[in-house]
Amino acid sequence: MTVLAIVGATGAVGSTMIEIIDARETVPWSEIRLVASARSAGKVLRVRGEDVTVRLLEPEVFDGVDVALFDVPDEVSAEWAPVAAARGAVAVDNSGAFRMDPDVPLVVPEVNADEAANRPKGIIANPNCTTLSMMAAMGALHREFGLTALVVSSYQAASGAGQGGIDRLQAEITAVSGKDLGSRSGDVAAALAEAGLDADSPFPAPLALNVVPWAGSLKDDGWSSEELKVRNESRKILGIPDLKVSATCVRVPVVTTHSLAVHATFSREVTADAARKVLGAQPTIVLRDDPAAGEWPTPADAVGGDPTVVGRIRQALDFPDTLELFVCGDNLRKGAALNTYEIAETVAAGL
Ligand SMILES: NC(=O)c1ccc[n+]([C@@H]2O[C@H](COP(=O)([O-])OP(=O)(O)OC[C@H]3O[C@@H](n4cnc5c(N)ncnc54)[C@H](OP(=O)(O)O)[C@@H]3O)[C@@H](O)[C@H]2O)c1
Repeated sequence: MTVLAIVGATGAVGSTMIEIIDARETVPWSEIRLVASARSAGKVLRVRGEDVTVRLLEPEVFDGVDVALFDVPDEVSAEWAPVAAARGAVAVDNSGAFRMDPDVPLVVPEVNADEAANRPKGIIANPNCTTLSMMAAMGALHREFGLTALVVSSYQAASGAGQGGIDRLQAEITAVSGKDLGSRSGDVAAALAEAGLDADSPFPAPLALNVVPWAGSLKDDGWSSEELKVRNESRKILGIPDLKVSATCVRVPVVTTHSLAVHATFSREVTADAARKVLGAQPTIVLRDDPAAGEWPTPADAVGGDPTVVGRIRQALDFPDTLELFVCGDNLRKGAALNTYEIAETVAAGL
């Protein structure tokens, strides 16, 4: 008997987790428990062809559980992952609550799978989706060429802000569609106000037909929390404590799949061909890198799939030790649910 619990099964990441489990040919679980708040307890969801009733999050729900996946807000994970661990489960947490805890490994199976076994608190953390989207590529390039610095600009999807983010972008697109928007962005704000959408957004500005250079909360010196996560989590996952990292995180009106423009510097000269060879050999990376044929990564190529899609690989003009590349990864799959589930499979294999 190996029992899995999915806490937050009704959210954007939890729903994707169920899709991933449904698509697996076999699973190591004899029982899958679904857990959420009082808002959703009692709902019935289909998992691998069976009806499963969502249970309320309470300590007893973890009795007999081997692996508990947490796809809930930070404060819920902070309180409940230790409860699950105290009751004997390995908690794999998708939130930001434990990522930088020195006693909690931050795992991307392609990069540092061994770390999953080193879990003194019984908790393993899943990286944030923006960082995670580029880790398979950066891990592979680092192993070959020695990464020393990263400058990253993100183009992040609405679903990075959860189901609320998806619903908001859908509502905004409905509000602006069919309108004569004129030539000014102010007309978008007017269309949203007319539809009663001038408040209560998870985004700090209109997202439909717009680009918003902000994700997360305000930290010191004007940095956003998301930008600091890219820096700190990249260092921890890659095991390069002095990696130089600078990020600018931007929200774009894409439903799902984060994109990143990456400027990566190595300890030696790297040609685009050498990088293509390394990246093309990775099982979880797909190359779309033929601009002459109109081939490059876009969110539409990556969404719904497991691999990260990489292209626009260039040796930087004037910087022979630096590569420019563009990476797209489904933030709900590899960026969240898939990576977490891969960690769970690794843990189950060792039980
Ligand atoms: N979206 C992404 O791209 C992404 C990527 C990486 C990591 N993450 C992280 O993954 C976590 C989940 O994100 P999401 O996007 O799936 O959010 P979401 O769509 O808002 O879903 C939140 C889930 O948490 C449950 N929940 C909330 N408060 C709870 C409570 N007090 N007790 C029990 N369950 C509770 C909700 O259940 P109810 O149905 O009962 O409300 C729902 O199932 C967050 O920590 C997020 O930062 C998200």
